[in-house]
Amino acid sequence: MNVADSDIIFQILSDRGFVSAKNSSEADLLVVNTCSVRENAELRARSRIQEYARTSKNPSQKLWVIGCMAERLGDKLIDEIPGIDHVIGAKDMEDIRQRIDEILPDQTLCGVINTSSSVTDFVPVMRGCDNYCSYCIVPYVRGHEISIPVEEVEKQVKKKIDQGVKEITLLGQNVNSYRYENFDFPDLISKISEIEGLERLRFTTSHPRDCSEKLISTVAQLQNVCNHIHLPVQAGSDRVLSLMNRGYTGKDYRKLVDMIRKHIPDADITTDILVGFPSETQEEFKQTLSLVEDVAFTTAFMFAYSPREGTKAASMKECLSDEEKKARLTELITMQTEITRKAYGEMVGKEIEVLVSGRQEKHDKMWMGQDYGCKRVLLSCTNAQAGMILKAKVVRSSGMTLIAERI
Ligand code: 5AD
Ligand code: SF4
Repeated sequence: MNVADSDIIFQILSDRGFVSAKNSSEADLLVVNTCSVRENAELRARSRIQEYARTSKNPSQKLWVIGCMAERLGDKLIDEIPGIDHVIGAKDMEDIRQRIDEILPDQTLCGVINTSSSVTDFVPVMRGCDNYCSYCIVPYVRGHEISIPVEEVEKQVKKKIDQGVKEITLLGQNVNSYRYENFDFPDLISKISEIEGLERLRFTTSHPRDCSEKLISTVAQLQNVCNHIHLPVQAGSDRVLSLMNRGYTGKDYRKLVDMIRKHIPDADITTDILVGFPSETQEEFKQTLSLVEDVAFTTAFMFAYSPREGTKAASMKECLSDEEKKARLTELITMQTEITRKAYGEMVGKEIEVLVSGRQEKHDKMWMGQDYGCKRVLLSCTNAQAGMILKAKVVRSSGMTLIAERI
């Protein structure tokens, strides 16, 4: 979502004649887009901002801080880090053009025509979140859930296709609760998938509580919608899931996975998992491990719980040390890495379709891309071009990348 927001801001600034600077010291304007989801993300953003503020040699250079941390801390950030000129919170993304007009009133519009250099891109379909998972800061910093009108989504997708994009990922914190007039999310993807020139369509994120059979059968039926479902499970224990306010049990989740595999047998199912939630016992952590083992996710994003001020979980008593959380995370990552390695290994010998995203640096015969699921591919082939979809045979796997040859 932050990448998509940065892209929107870049578009607005290029309409006003800004172009990308070669490096930060040459820039007239630095915009730091921040994340608040874990403390580490904020610490990293903070040190980057401090570095920019401290090392700027150009007195007319401006520094804006935008996004979730900007929303959470507001103008306090300006007091804390001298050198910041403007703070624009994530909730302001809704009318960001207006906000930038206020900041840069004298900058004339010059209508630079943008051509995207990338073959894959994101289009937000929703903003905010109403789920209030007890550990999560997102509903507080991004605000209430709103669905972007179908026509607007269509317009954005068409615009990107005209710029050369081949694959779009529709974005929302919980796309399954999309509703605009009488359109639900499966209706939206059916409509968007018909847009001429759209080679591949993806979406993220699906909340297990709202992931319907209608959605999965729609994905199964539509030719250009990829076989990848990102379905954050977060934990394997019912007690922890209930404390997290997730609205499903481990059994519900397993049933959902069975339903997905019934409709799309070769689907890549990926997930997010959080270990060390307040009061999570060793036994409950083992339930997460056993769910991970049973489901066999293609890949997973795995995190140690990080308390976020203002969330419900932040007031729960923590009984795990950072070391214990880290040890659980390491155990989980070790298990999932092996499962991922196996999933990639099983692809050797299979034929796949690769959307080529670009040449691999230093190898003029190696191209990077992605298969129809979620797997990264290195394709050896003499005359490819970014944007092509090529048939290939997997000859090897390097654990988290498929090595394939064009056929
Ligand atoms: N601590 C650790 N991980 C978190 N996530 C969200 N909030 C927290 C937190 N407080 C993870 C969840 C979510 C992903 C985007 O980030 O797994 O799905
Ligand atoms: Fe956070 Fe839950 Fe919303 Fe995801 S669904 S953004 S984890 S509150």
